[in-house]
Amino acid sequence: MSDPEPEPLLSVQDLTISAAGTDTPLVRGAGFTLQRGRTLGLVGESGSGKTLTCRTVLGVLPAGCTVTAGRVRFAGRDVTRLDRRGWQPLRAARIGAVFQDPGSYLTPSLTIGRQLREVLRVRGGATRAEARERALGLLAEVGLRDPARVARQIPAQLSGGMQQRAMLALAVACRPDLLVADEPTTALDARTQRDVLALLRSLRERLGLAVLFVSHDLEAVAELCDDIGVFRRGELVETASARQLLRRPAHPYTRSLLAAAGLLEEEPYAR
Ligand SMILES: Nc1ncnc2c1ncn2[C@@H]1O[C@H](COP(=O)(O)OP(=O)(O)OP(=O)(O)O)[C@@H](O)[C@H]1O
Ligand SMILES: [Mg+2]
Repeated sequence: MSDPEPEPLLSVQDLTISAAGTDTPLVRGAGFTLQRGRTLGLVGESGSGKTLTCRTVLGVLPAGCTVTAGRVRFAGRDVTRLDRRGWQPLRAARIGAVFQDPGSYLTPSLTIGRQLREVLRVRGGATRAEARERALGLLAEVGLRDPARVARQIPAQLSGGMQQRAMLALAVACRPDLLVADEPTTALDARTQRDVLALLRSLRERLGLAVLFVSHDLEAVAELCDDIGVFRRGELVETASARQLLRRPAHPYTRSLLAAAGLLEEEPYAR
């Protein structure tokens, strides 16, 4: 007999997120699990709840939005209503994050090297000397040529692609178990998108990361992800293995998404 499935690294159950002063929840009853080392893609139309779901997993819902039902478990703990202090040991250390606009998440006035050293020391418990050495190693790891030079630069001196690489270096600096990547390539040109996706894939393999990946690029999602969840108007209408979702999409909305991306592998109503 095979071993029972281990408890997922991340489990989101019946997640409902509401904004103050409105009756209709922004996210309703969303549920999914993510095992260690696996990648789950979230797709769906604009405003359907992907980012709010990611932000719940990161413990950074925007002001005015709250989890009104359901729960989030990470590494065996209920993290749904952790306060700021409760999140501290998890953020960056166990869960890393990259977003669409690295420019607004990097600190504009601090050099990349300083930002990396701070994360390594404050979140990763590294000594000053260790942090200095590892910061350069990380910049090389994310494919930045001349790490010593990049370490001395501030974000505005880097191209968009280099900023996203620097953001990835920060996100994986403390060797987290989970990486939340919310549209990490959307703002980049096509070639840089491919490079950053290849980097994401290689970091995932090398570090054994679980990845929660949000993108409007269905082709990239299909290529990168083990499983895919489809959001529509605040609800997760379908979740399946990437293979199954592409071959036999169950929900009409999934079919229309795939058809629009030219990825429908069968005639929608042929059966
Ligand atoms: N701070 C907020 N206060 C109130 N409503 C919000 C807030 N942030 C997001 N929303 C609403 O919540 C819904 C879900 O937004 P979310 O950002 O999760 O969508 P998304 O799927 O990430 O969309 P996109 O693909 O455009 O990034 C939207 O209707 C949005 O307008
Ligand atoms: Mg979003």
